[in-house]
Amino acid sequence: MSGSRGFLIAIEGVDAVGKKTQTSALAFWLRSRGRTVETISFPDYGTAIGGEIREFLMGRSSYPPEVRHILFAANRWEEKERLEAALSKAEVVLVNRYTASNYAYGVANGLRVEWLMNLEAGLPEPDLVVVLDAPTSDLRQRRARDKDEYEKDASLQERTRAAYLRLAGDLHWRVVDASGGVDATRRALADAVSESLKKHGRTV
Ligand code: TMP
Repeated sequence: MSGSRGFLIAIEGVDAVGKKTQTSALAFWLRSRGRTVETISFPDYGTAIGGEIREFLMGRSSYPPEVRHILFAANRWEEKERLEAALSKAEVVLVNRYTASNYAYGVANGLRVEWLMNLEAGLPEPDLVVVLDAPTSDLRQRRARDKDEYEKDASLQERTRAAYLRLAGDLHWRVVDASGGVDATRRALADAVSESLKKHGRTV
């Protein structure tokens, strides 16, 4: 695989759509093809800012939407070096949620996308953003318990799905149907990734 830095792929979508499962499956598939892969998840709850994010997601503290989305972006800024190190080491870096999460959830919370984009300007740009998409009504049963404040809010999930789909058109994100089974989604995701790698002159 050629290229000066690793290929950065963001796996996106509303809560419980299957990002974690699909990110692991994609990493496994890429490694089976001989690629070196690093995986990072956002939010990173292990930092001070990540701890504060957990507090408001659990409803133990309350901030206006601007502050919440500034904290999500700050949580990426505190991980910038780790991300850059991963990109210089691995051929592919998979991020389970990244900047697109803040755009979609932020827009769903009434914020302007230009304002949200400014918060992230200067972080490594993803080479591919994949939105796993499924009707949010189908997803509600998937995680019945232990929901955080964002997950409990069915209307927020619906507005976020709509925001992802609209932004995908504007910002050239790839939408992958995740309404079928895990295997069908896994194959569709692998196809989208190999197509994008080829388009960027990198093979799998
Ligand atoms: P998680 O469930 O994937 O850990 O993410 C927690 C919530 O935070 C989820 O509802 C999506 C939201 N979120 C944002 O609004 N902006 C972001 O930048 C990130 C990473 C997550």
